[in-house]
Amino acid sequence: MKELKVDLGARSYPIKIGSNLLQTLGEELKNLSFGGKLLVVTDENVYPLYGKTCLESLKNSGFKVDVLVMPPGEGTKGWFYAEKIFSRALDLGMDRDSGIVALGGGVIGDLAGFAAATYMRGVSYVQVPTTLLAQVDSSVGGKVAINHPRGKNMIGAFYQPLLVLVDLDTLNTLPFRELRSGMAEVVKYGIIRDASFFNTLYTALDPTFSQEKEFFQDTVYRSCAIKAEIVSADEREGGLRAILNFGHTLGHALEAATRYSYFNHGEAVNYGMLLASRLAHREGLLRKTELDLIEDLLYRVGFLEFPQNINVKDIVQGLKYDKKRKGEKTIFILPEKIGRVGIYDNIAEEKVEKILKDFFKEFNKY
Ligand SMILES: NC(=O)c1ccc[n+]([C@@H]2O[C@H](COP(=O)([O-])OP(=O)(O)OC[C@H]3O[C@@H](n4cnc5c(N)ncnc54)[C@H](O)[C@@H]3O)[C@@H](O)[C@H]2O)c1
Repeated sequence: MKELKVDLGARSYPIKIGSNLLQTLGEELKNLSFGGKLLVVTDENVYPLYGKTCLESLKNSGFKVDVLVMPPGEGTKGWFYAEKIFSRALDLGMDRDSGIVALGGGVIGDLAGFAAATYMRGVSYVQVPTTLLAQVDSSVGGKVAINHPRGKNMIGAFYQPLLVLVDLDTLNTLPFRELRSGMAEVVKYGIIRDASFFNTLYTALDPTFSQEKEFFQDTVYRSCAIKAEIVSADEREGGLRAILNFGHTLGHALEAATRYSYFNHGEAVNYGMLLASRLAHREGLLRKTELDLIEDLLYRVGFLEFPQNINVKDIVQGLKYDKKRKGEKTIFILPEKIGRVGIYDNIAEEKVEKILKDFFKEFNKY
């Protein structure tokens, strides 16, 4: 097992990464001095695979534990299901000593974390991420949220867990598209912060993702280390943390243009990173040789076929609803070289449109 720390003073917490860790959940929580009742929040795909192991471990360690199983998918990240958690917690008589365990992907992590942040003004929670995306990204850093019908992640908080427990064995059951989605976020870390990690991935990444276990352990560890370093320096996104949004401005616009029903998160981010890198090159920020390397690796991660029924206008419109906008300005995170990005708020809309138009022309050729 490998261990990292998110260093936030009194709110610091460990990230533990390894195999066979679900069995240790109960002991881990005992060490964290969880006192009261526990509610495990999970989804219908994850529960049959990993629910029993987690519940047994918690019960064997003496916890009173109940479980709430949600439908899978982004639609669950809303008020209706948050309220289900609150109601169950009230039914169980959970108090401020009680805790929540988020067992699942980013949807469950964000939803259960949001419930933990707000139930009785905050109860402790732990993240047990089971998708690659959740393991390398959403479970670390304390951003918890639900969606509003008018936008993703609009209602939320910064609320750190007491522990992130990453059992790499859960990746064995993850569908290919979900692995690919997480891998896009992995590659993001190399581009924004760590050229040597980028090179490792460039050498080792095989588009079937059939690498050895060690590859995933190392990949998850290095990704979490980068995220932990950034979050420790800037918990509430006052500056540096914004670089984690590389690929997300255009990625979110793509998700919005397809009504969140075509791409999954990382698939849209992969296109977003491609477009942002092209924009950076067009702006004279990124050399062609580096752009080529980035594109090469993004293609190796793989692109979901681009949808037929959206156009440039839809995507530009989506940018206007970006949560990270400052007034009228859209913020772009653009690579200046592999391992370094800058934050730009001065990119003219026409230039973004041009990149998109060229991209659509290229896409239509195929
Ligand atoms: N909080 C953050 O910092 C942050 C960062 C990035 C993304 N997110 C959020 O994360 C969400 C996306 O997360 P996700 O990609 O994990 O999606 P997800 O939670 O919907 O999981 C994807 C699918 O995989 C299934 N699944 C999960 N683990 C499995 C396993 N081990 N085996 C088989 N199936 C499994 C799930 O049931 C689901 O159908 C989005 O809502 C996004 O906004 C949050």
